[in-house]
Amino acid sequence: MIETVALAPGYRVSRLLKGGWQLADGHGAAVEREAAIADMVAFADAGITGFDCADIYTGVEALIGAFRERYGQLRGAEALDGLKIHTKLVPDWAMLGRVDRRYVESIIDRSRQRLGQERLDLVQFHWWNYDVPGMVETAGWLSDLQRAGKIDRLGGTNFDTARTAMLLDAGVKLASMQVQYSLLDARPENGLVQLAAGRGVGLICYGALAGGFLGERWLGTAEPSGPLDNRSLVKYKLIIDDFGGWALFQALLHTLQAIAAKHRVGIAAVALRHLLDRPQVACVIVGARSARHLAATLDADRLRLDEDDRRKIAAILAERQGPKGDTFALERDRGGRHGAIMKYDLNAVPA
Ligand SMILES: NC(=O)c1ccc[n+]([C@@H]2O[C@H](COP(=O)([O-])OP(=O)(O)OC[C@H]3O[C@@H](n4cnc5c(N)ncnc54)[C@H](OP(=O)(O)O)[C@@H]3O)[C@@H](O)[C@H]2O)c1
Repeated sequence: MIETVALAPGYRVSRLLKGGWQLADGHGAAVEREAAIADMVAFADAGITGFDCADIYTGVEALIGAFRERYGQLRGAEALDGLKIHTKLVPDWAMLGRVDRRYVESIIDRSRQRLGQERLDLVQFHWWNYDVPGMVETAGWLSDLQRAGKIDRLGGTNFDTARTAMLLDAGVKLASMQVQYSLLDARPENGLVQLAAGRGVGLICYGALAGGFLGERWLGTAEPSGPLDNRSLVKYKLIIDDFGGWALFQALLHTLQAIAAKHRVGIAAVALRHLLDRPQVACVIVGARSARHLAATLDADRLRLDEDDRRKIAAILAERQGPKGDTFALERDRGGRHGAIMKYDLNAVPA
């Protein structure tokens, strides 16, 4: 079995989580339902028992709900209880001024129904636009639903340091904050990591493989100029540009490849292990369209980097230019390069 972490007292989850965005309609090529369920069974059987999804990942909560039902039938109630499903509450940008208690409860009830859970394990809350009031009130309504037994734990996603502190100061019991954090993007180190350490909030990280850029497939290749295969790659290509460009990225990949070869693992395992070893990182999400990378992902659990490995990685990272600023600040700027490729309104208002 693989390493687990107590994200909060009484709440234990695998440190590696299976990401669900790759299964969403509109992310990339369509996925086949039965194959996706079989893949989830393979992840859970391997010890990756935590699954990340969202109210706005079209079709994914229902798919995970079907997987939960299947897993209970195959492995029994105790195994089913061992799964942790992390969803989100992401009100549409266009909806923010009209979010009220009823709206929040309807989204939560829809997630419960889709996932087949009386009580959601973890709901990670997001608020697109700090200029629109209602962020703290919405978190308060979620806290009420937590007290009412519809939600076990609350977390946030993509809040910056100041807003994370604001939510905590308002009494919202955040067990976790899900943020982009990787070898290419260290923005959480600009304040959030320190706050999270002081306030007992575990970081759940996405983008750890930069959509697959941190893998053998891109080693030694020319900078892509045409359309990329999926939305993750589009997003993380912009991060590579901010990191210092393709040449520095290639230097990083070559360094990682040498370390990977020494330990007889793949580049992805080194990228994941590096992140799992960072202070305050509780969990790392690995996006997976299928189970084809499962064995390579599990290598990250057993891999131990040594001083020489860490020194080589640090030497490359010392040359990076960015991305700069606090967590998700670039993505909140709708007119900027990062904001221009985001989809802000994916949460159809339930009837
Ligand atoms: N809160 C948020 O705003 C937010 C944003 C983005 C993502 N997320 C969450 O984080 C998850 C991760 O998504 P991401 O976009 O950041 O992707 P990622 O995990 O950085 O990359 C996933 C891709 O990497 C490749 N891959 C996976 N395991 C590999 C391995 N062991 N070796 C080599 N390549 C491997 C696969 O690409 P190929 O199949 O093409 O090989 C896969 O689709 C999502 O599913 C979602 O749950 C959250």
